Amino acid sequence: MDSLQRQQPLPLLVLVLLLLVSSRFATGLEWDGVAITQNDLQGLQAIKAELTDRRGVLRIWNGTGIDACSGAWTGIKCVRGQVIAIQLPWRGLAGRLSSKVGQLVSLRKLNLHDNTIGGPIPPALGLLRELRGVYLFNNRFTGEVPRSIAGCVLLQTLDLSANSLSGSIPASIANNTRLLRLNLSYNNISGSIPAAVTRLPALVFVSLQHNNLSGSVPDTWGSSSSNNVSGFQLKSLHLEHNFLSGSIPISLSRLPMLEDLSLSNNELQGSIPEEFGTFPRLKTLDLSKNSISGSFPESLCNLSSLVELKLEGNFLESPILESIDGLKNLSLLDLKRNQFVGSIPPTLGNISGLSLLDLSENNLTGGIPVSIDNLTNLTFFNVSDNNLSGPVPVLLSEKFNSSSFSGNLQLCGYSAAPCPSAPPTYPQSLSTSPEHTRRRLGTKALILIAVAVFLALLILLFSFLFYCMIRNRAAKQSTAREAAARRGEKSGQETGSEVETGGDTGGKLVHFDGPLAFTADDLLCATAEIMGKSTYGTVYKATLEDGSQVAVKRLREKIGLSETRFDIH
Ligand SMILES: *[C@@H]1O[C@H](CO)[C@@H](O)[C@H](O)[C@H]1NC(C)=O
Ligand SMILES: *[C@@H]1O[C@H](CO)[C@@H](O)[C@H](O)[C@H]1NC(C)=O
Ligand SMILES: *[C@@H]1O[C@H](CO)[C@@H](O)[C@H](O)[C@H]1NC(C)=O
Ligand SMILES: *[C@@H]1O[C@H](CO)[C@@H](O)[C@H](O)[C@H]1NC(C)=O
Ligand SMILES: *[C@@H]1O[C@H](CO)[C@@H](O)[C@H](O)[C@H]1NC(C)=O
Ligand SMILES: *[C@@H]1O[C@H](CO)[C@@H](O)[C@H](O)[C@H]1NC(C)=O
Ligand SMILES: *[C@@H]1O[C@H](CO)[C@@H](O)[C@H](O)[C@H]1NC(C)=O
Ligand SMILES: *[C@@H]1O[C@H](CO)[C@@H](O)[C@H](O)[C@H]1NC(C)=O
Ligand SMILES: *[C@@H]1O[C@H](CO)[C@@H](O)[C@H](O)[C@H]1NC(C)=O
Ligand SMILES: *[C@@H]1O[C@H](CO)[C@@H](O)[C@H](O)[C@H]1NC(C)=O
Ligand SMILES: *[C@@H]1O[C@H](CO)[C@@H](O)[C@H](O)[C@H]1NC(C)=O
Ligand SMILES: *[C@@H]1O[C@H](CO)[C@@H](O)[C@H](O)[C@H]1NC(C)=O
Repeated sequence: MDSLQRQQPLPLLVLVLLLLVSSRFATGLEWDGVAITQNDLQGLQAIKAELTDRRGVLRIWNGTGIDACSGAWTGIKCVRGQVIAIQLPWRGLAGRLSSKVGQLVSLRKLNLHDNTIGGPIPPALGLLRELRGVYLFNNRFTGEVPRSIAGCVLLQTLDLSANSLSGSIPASIANNTRLLRLNLSYNNISGSIPAAVTRLPALVFVSLQHNNLSGSVPDTWGSSSSNNVSGFQLKSLHLEHNFLSGSIPISLSRLPMLEDLSLSNNELQGSIPEEFGTFPRLKTLDLSKNSISGSFPESLCNLSSLVELKLEGNFLESPILESIDGLKNLSLLDLKRNQFVGSIPPTLGNISGLSLLDLSENNLTGGIPVSIDNLTNLTFFNVSDNNLSGPVPVLLSEKFNSSSFSGNLQLCGYSAAPCPSAPPTYPQSLSTSPEHTRRRLGTKALILIAVAVFLALLILLFSFLFYCMIRNRAAKQSTAREAAARRGEKSGQETGSEVETGGDTGGKLVHFDGPLAFTADDLLCATAEIMGKSTYGTVYKATLEDGSQVAVKRLREKIGLSETRFDIH
């Protein structure tokens, strides 16, 4: 309770009342009248002797010690004359932790966090069979995590974080089958992660981040001797800021309760396992700053519970999937500094809770979808250093400054690069089409329309061509043709002179000798260049789709010529 004195007065009062009520039952705040055992008294005196107590918090640990268990000794709790808890956090204690702590055989909780105690963590802790909680974080302990800790078979919390521990994680930790919270983060622990850690069945929190761990992450998560996968409760796994290598362990996907997974700032390789799409509760996935390659797995889009996805600084190179809006609860999407290709999916605009979107330093092309303007909660947006083109959606350009858009040569419509104003000719109006058109239509639709318009123009051009030709020849030949039609002859049977009408506006197409059979439609698809002009008309060299070349003469109106003047090349 003393540890709470630094907090706000009002919550303090509430907490103190709560603690009074609960501790009365749990640990007997009222002294049970049994004097401390000689063994435990010696233990406490040794602990006091080795600590440096600049603030004099332990001055009261004096005299005969008859009242040590009465509540008079700061931070000590007893049951039947035996010390069950030492709680002295935030007391400015320095010095060392005496190995005589091993004499307190009934000790359940050792809480000395946020002091400046140094020296080794006494291996004698392993003698304490009743020990359930060890809270020594934020001190200056050195040396190794004692392997004797395996003796504490009831241990639930081992928090030695933020010290200067070195050495490796003892494999003997396999014995601590009740371990629920393992926090060795912010030390200098090296070596590899023992597979034993992955098999501890009761683990809920594992924090090994900010150490010097190396080797590959064991791929044995969620497997135990009993093979009771449903028994695995692991919620949070932090391994970031180490030197871990190898591939991302697929077995992680066997942990049904996992909410928080960080493997960032390591040297992991390989691809993101497809199996990662099966986490039912995952909220945070941080794989940033590794050497992960391959594609963005489609299954990942199934993680509807995901809130943060960080893949920054890897070598991922697929398109960003349209189905990314399966990540309905996503608030943070960081794909910075990869090699993502293709366009930004408009479906991103469906993820309404998105507040951070970083797609910078990739190989993205195409435009910024206007649907992004729908993301009203967006507070960070960055697409700089890609190959994006076209105009920036209006709201985005108003909300974010040019650093969000720079490094895209063909992107315009933001402060540093306004779009060219009125579209003077048709092809330009395609690339700088007005805002409202872009807003209604996706990029795909725009491309389709462009192709359609282009085709329509071609059809018009050729129709006009043949219209002129037909008008010319119709005058000459209509009487002969009508006669032939009346005889019921198929015009095609007349070798070398098949006539088609090219639609309402079209002219007539007259074939001459040769093996080629093509229609006016084929001509529409052909590329043509002018070969020569004469008084009768212009000769075009047309290359058909199948590669064959024909000469087409477009006759001027009212010039009659015999069919033999044409040649098929
Ligand atoms: C123990 O320390 C307390 C507080 O410093 C003091 O009041 C008390 O007299 C001391 N008792 C003995 C027996 O030294
Ligand atoms: C592991 O736990 C058992 C009791 O369950 C104990 O007897 C044994 O000594 C422990 N092993 C180590 C290495 O401490
Ligand atoms: C582990 O320790 C670090 C540093 O003391 C702390 O920030 C973190 O919240 C702890 N994590 C857990 C799960 O206890
Ligand atoms: C880890 O070790 C290095 C070199 O021995 C030292 O500089 C650094 O301060 C240590 N870090 C911690 C957290 O103890
Ligand atoms: C980390 O471990 C490597 C060996 O694996 C060692 O060379 C290096 O000095 C260690 N770094 C720190 C900070 O302890
Ligand atoms: C598996 O573990 C869960 C939770 O610990 C438990 O409820 C269940 O009975 C166990 N199942 C088997 C087959 O051991
Ligand atoms: C996503 O989940 C659905 C149903 O939960 C499943 O049918 C589908 O195959 C999953 N998609 C991928 C890519 O895993
Ligand atoms: C999404 O978030 C809301 C609110 O945080 C939560 O109630 C809901 O269960 C989440 N959806 C999923 C699929 O986890
Ligand atoms: C997602 O966005 C796309 C394009 O922006 C839209 O066509 C689709 O209807 C949206 N889907 C849902 C479920 O909102
Ligand atoms: C936007 O943010 C506000 C405040 O953080 C939150 O209440 C609201 O639910 C968010 N909107 C969406 C669509 O997530
Ligand atoms: C992405 O762009 C960079 C530089 O522009 C280039 O070196 C790299 O090959 C490109 N990657 C892909 C997958 O296109
Ligand atoms: C923006 O959201 C509104 C309503 O949710 C929807 O009708 C509209 O289609 C969305 N716009 C785009 C471009 O997705």
